[in-house]
Amino acid sequence: MTDLDDILKYWNTYELRRFLGSTIPMSRQAEKEWLERVTKYSPFKDGEMVLAIVDKMSNEFLGTCGVFDISSANRHAEFGIAIHNPDNLSKGYGTDTTLVMLWIAFNILGLNTVYLRAFSKNKRALKAYEKAGFKMVGTLRGHVFSEGEFQDHVMMDITAGEFFERYPAGTQIGQP
Ligand SMILES: CC(C)(COP(=O)(O)OP(=O)(O)OC[C@H]1O[C@@H](n2cnc3c(N)ncnc32)[C@H](O)[C@@H]1OP(=O)(O)O)[C@@H](O)C(=O)NCCC(=O)NCCS
Repeated sequence: MTDLDDILKYWNTYELRRFLGSTIPMSRQAEKEWLERVTKYSPFKDGEMVLAIVDKMSNEFLGTCGVFDISSANRHAEFGIAIHNPDNLSKGYGTDTTLVMLWIAFNILGLNTVYLRAFSKNKRALKAYEKAGFKMVGTLRGHVFSEGEFQDHVMMDITAGEFFERYPAGTQIGQP
């Protein structure tokens, strides 16, 4: 099984994609090209860092996450995540992964804020992000056309100061 096969297993399922930016299916070729591109990215040169989410105990591929539109001038970036297999939802993986990505964003990339957008109907995601420390900052009304209607997106963000208050520099996240 390659990373590409792992990704394609659930990527074109409506259950997963209904909460992401687009529900239009992706071809194997398009996904292959995306994977080849993002695995070579350098965060500040290419403005993006994408990582696989893997269960450390079982080595199971769980999904992907990343920070996008990294601005070296403003030291901010947008966060995105998808746990692919519906059987793995609401088991804590999303909150754990978000915390690890925030740790990287603030401790390694030196960002000042990280923000995200999510459907206001995606209550599971909002809960996971809140648990990881994100705060609601506003609503983009009717921002995305999905499932036959214009739906609200909420914006959330977290500052380096808020993160370090909870996890001072040098604190490890998760088990080594
Ligand atoms: C969003 C996502 C990353 C969250 O990860 P996760 O592993 O499922 O979430 P967690 O288990 O860490 O936390 C979810 C929390 O929401 C709760 N929850 C689940 N469904 C809920 C609902 N309908 N309403 C309110 N809370 C809900 C869970 O009980 C859990 O809270 P708890 O730990 O206090 O019990 C994951 O669900 C996912 O990838 N979904 C599909 C794609 C997606 O939505 N991506 C995000 C786009 S912005």
